[in-house]
Amino acid sequence: MNIIVFFSGTGTNLQSILQNEENLNYKVISTFTNNPDASGIDISKNFNVDCKILDHKEFDSREKFDEEINTYLQKLNPDYVILAGYMRILSNILVDNWKQKIINIHPSLLPKYPGLNTHKRALLAGDKLHGTTIHYVTSELDAGPIIRQQSIEIEPDDTIESLTEKIKKLENKIYPETISNL
Ligand code: GRF
Repeated sequence: MNIIVFFSGTGTNLQSILQNEENLNYKVISTFTNNPDASGIDISKNFNVDCKILDHKEFDSREKFDEEINTYLQKLNPDYVILAGYMRILSNILVDNWKQKIINIHPSLLPKYPGLNTHKRALLAGDKLHGTTIHYVTSELDAGPIIRQQSIEIEPDDTIESLTEKIKKLENKIYPETISNL
């Protein structure tokens, strides 16, 4: 199974997907980022995987940017596109052309807290449980069919930082496994 991983930032999920590749049922054939400064670019290099960098700021519209991404994807024709901290909303060009093929990981127990600042929102609401969700991407933000969800208990002394760390650790473990079982 060939996959392409999209990221915009630190890339701990990307790193974990690459580290586990040998023992699991997928191959990362390329990576993609919209952020020329993302740490995931170096991570891709360390694993000898080509990283395509396209800065969205150089495009007039989301559609034009996504058209170029679509051309790149069509050339490589992956089985799945894996979003791992990719911070751009996808337009219909991508969602329609890659139906049931784009997977995302979101740091909350969806349908709770779609969008940003999920850890802060869970803390402010006084939630006892928090977690992460792996789901198919549809045109509605963070709302596609759920593939897997895993929760953790929020401790009284948890902060945004501690939850970020705990959730990423959990994601780094379950994302590779889940991709392998797609
Ligand atoms: C993860 O928490 C993921 O759920 C969210 O963005 C974060 C990416 O982290 N979509 P990293 O770049 O993989 O470290």
